[in-house]
Amino acid sequence: MVNIDYNALVLEALKGRESAYVPYSNFKVGAAILTGSGKIYNGCNIENASYGATNCAERTAIFKAVSEGEKEIKAIAVVGSLEEYTFPCGICRQVISEFGKEDTPIIIAKNENDFNVYRLDEILPGAFTKKDLKK
Ligand code: THU
Repeated sequence: MVNIDYNALVLEALKGRESAYVPYSNFKVGAAILTGSGKIYNGCNIENASYGATNCAERTAIFKAVSEGEKEIKAIAVVGSLEEYTFPCGICRQVISEFGKEDTPIIIAKNENDFNVYRLDEILPGAFTKKDLKK
C-alpha cells in the first residue's frame, strides 16, 4: 500500500465519471485503477435500453486495462454520488478480486479531498477465487 497517490486516483475517477452514459438512471459513476505497470485507467458506467446490458464504471476501467495487457490492480477509486459514498456492486467486487489482492486498497470517494480507504477483503470477505477451483 506504499506510495499510492489516492488523490490522483480519485481525480481520474472523477474524470471518467464525466463520460458516464446514463440516460436511464441519471446516476453517474466513475472509477480509476492503478495497474501493475503504474498506469492509470479510468472508466464510467455505460447503460443500455436493455437495462441488464449496463456496464458499471469499475468494470469498464478494469476491462480497458486488461484488454491492454494489464493483469494487476494495485488500487481502485470509485466516485458515484458526489453527496454520498458509493461502493462497488457485488459483481464489480468479484471482478476486482480477480485482478487484485486481499489488501488491495479500495478508495471510496465523494471527491479528491473526501474519501475512505478499505481493503478488498473488508468489502468482499470470503471471496471465491481461482484457489477454490483447485479444491
Ligand atoms: N453502477 C456502477 O457503475 N457501479 C457500481 O458499483 C454500482 C452501480 C451504475 C450502474 C448503473 O448505470 C447505475 O450505477 C445505477 O445502478
